[in-house]
Amino acid sequence: MTEELAFNSKHTIAYEANARNSIPTYDMLFSMIQSYFRVQLGEKEASLLVVGAGGGNELSAWGPSNPKWAFTGVDPSKDMLQMAMHKSVQLGLEDRVKLIQGTVSDIPLTDSKFDAASCILVLHFIKDVQQKLELLRTIKDKLKPGAPFVLVTAYGDPAEAELQDRINVWKSFFFDVGYDASKLDEMGKMIMNISFIPEQQIEQLLQEAGFTNSTRFYSTGLFAGWICHAE
Ligand SMILES: C[S@@+](CC[C@H](N)C(=O)[O-])C[C@H]1O[C@@H](n2cnc3c(N)ncnc32)[C@H](O)[C@@H]1O
Repeated sequence: MTEELAFNSKHTIAYEANARNSIPTYDMLFSMIQSYFRVQLGEKEASLLVVGAGGGNELSAWGPSNPKWAFTGVDPSKDMLQMAMHKSVQLGLEDRVKLIQGTVSDIPLTDSKFDAASCILVLHFIKDVQQKLELLRTIKDKLKPGAPFVLVTAYGDPAEAELQDRINVWKSFFFDVGYDASKLDEMGKMIMNISFIPEQQIEQLLQEAGFTNSTRFYSTGLFAGWICHAE
């Protein structure tokens, strides 16, 4: 194994395990989104924009069983993109996968608009609400009218006890796989460093960005998912 492959394997295994500890329904989430996209996109060839494609899980979940889908993944992290590239090659998807290191604004203006897009577990890493809105707007501008968009993000009002209750639920997922109590207390404090906003505000941002018919289809622990469509 080359040094690069060893790096990728080690990080991929750690990332995969952590995602599934944090979100026990992680794999089901991808399958639910696939169902919706399949109905929306039908049998024709389709182009999908994957925002935050690092790790490559959208590619491995949807690529092999949807041979007519082509993916453009964007992610600012070189390391995360290496994992995505590694997975694409392993699964023989590289002819249908284009990866761009950067953000949605780095997609060439000459590229055609996309038939669908996802932004999974990215928005809560953006602290500023105006920047969250900007990201959603740039995604909307890259989509064909009516195209489906799926947003999955942490949500909640940091001032409300309800979020603390959900953090306790989230910690219990890790407790059950063997994390010790002191580590969990530390994790409970650390998680507050991500940017939580209430779900009403997320729905408002989607609307302001130009998405319609937003509906919350998914929720597990700290995270929830919305399906909507570009105007
Ligand atoms: C927790 S990972 C989620 C990866 C993948 N979507 C999944 O569900 O497995 C978050 C990813 O978002 C990327 N990211 C952060 N800010 C971003 C932005 N403005 N645009 C695109 N990706 C971003 C990070 O580099 C990281 O790879």
